[in-house]
Amino acid sequence: MKKALITGATDGIGREIVKELANRDYSLIIHGRNREKAAKVVAELKKTNNRDYNIEIADLESQLEVYQMAERIKSSQKKVDILINNAGTYQQNFKYSQDKIEKTLAVNFHSHFILTLFLLKNIQNSNDPRIINVSSISHSSKIDLNDIWEPKNYDAMKAYKDSKTAMNLFTFKLARLYQNKIAINCLDPGVIDTKVLRRGWSLNGSPAENGAITPVYLADSEKVKGETGNYYINKRKSKPASITYDKDLQDQLWNKSIEMIKHQEIKSAIKKIINQVEY
Ligand SMILES: NC(=O)c1ccc[n+]([C@@H]2O[C@H](COP(=O)([O-])OP(=O)(O)OC[C@H]3O[C@@H](n4cnc5c(N)ncnc54)[C@H](OP(=O)(O)O)[C@@H]3O)[C@@H](O)[C@H]2O)c1
Repeated sequence: MKKALITGATDGIGREIVKELANRDYSLIIHGRNREKAAKVVAELKKTNNRDYNIEIADLESQLEVYQMAERIKSSQKKVDILINNAGTYQQNFKYSQDKIEKTLAVNFHSHFILTLFLLKNIQNSNDPRIINVSSISHSSKIDLNDIWEPKNYDAMKAYKDSKTAMNLFTFKLARLYQNKIAINCLDPGVIDTKVLRRGWSLNGSPAENGAITPVYLADSEKVKGETGNYYINKRKSKPASITYDKDLQDQLWNKSIEMIKHQEIKSAIKKIINQVEY
């Protein structure tokens, strides 16, 4: 049975992804920041698919909690076949994360950067390894990589869009590094009626289950097995902002993301991993 880890599985699109994967016989690691909400999702899943589900709690605002979660998963799971980096937030007002990084960027992108790098070995133990990054059509077509961590003039929409451009840049760099080893893609899930949409846009979205269609396709379909380094909308390859293909920008973000790890223990561990990855 394949094992999938889904971040932000306690609400919205993530909750629908786990429902769908449970129907397809996956063993699931349900990530959330709130244990009660995660337990409720599991209770719901068990009504139709009664098996063991793992719950992992970590606030993605905290680098330490992300690191500790990654360590727990590494020691308890020999392999993780699918990682879906889905959790996200829209912050109307400027807030710092626990590590003094603008919160949207910390949650939507930087936490996933750290989590993914720590789990690479376990993901490589799969015979069909896949990483799926939930991005958005709402992403910036230019970005100031020095400003995003602590913006001088906070603009909520810009912070959100920058976090998604960062996710795309990260996806394409990692896909280059792991060519023929891990399938790594990103996607826009559509305009979906969730907290993120309600906070950022005055739009009526489609039902949450529609948001799970493309992530589940990239996780599970034989049609995209081995496909890597692409951005999808509605199960089709699409083109994100052209800057996200800029290799220099990808490298700059990569280096800055390491620099912005505030705990020496985590930074050293990440550098060790990266030394094995980069060639
Ligand atoms: N909805 C759309 O139209 C749309 C469009 C494009 C992209 N997206 C992306 O889709 C992804 C899923 O979002 P959604 O629309 O389903 O929104 P949502 O219903 O608010 O779900 C977001 C998930 O992320 C979790 N989360 C938020 N902050 C967290 C933190 N600090 N630590 C740990 N978990 C945290 C939430 O946990 P709680 O349950 O505790 O709140 C929830 O499980 C996001 O990456 C979003 O940017 C959405």
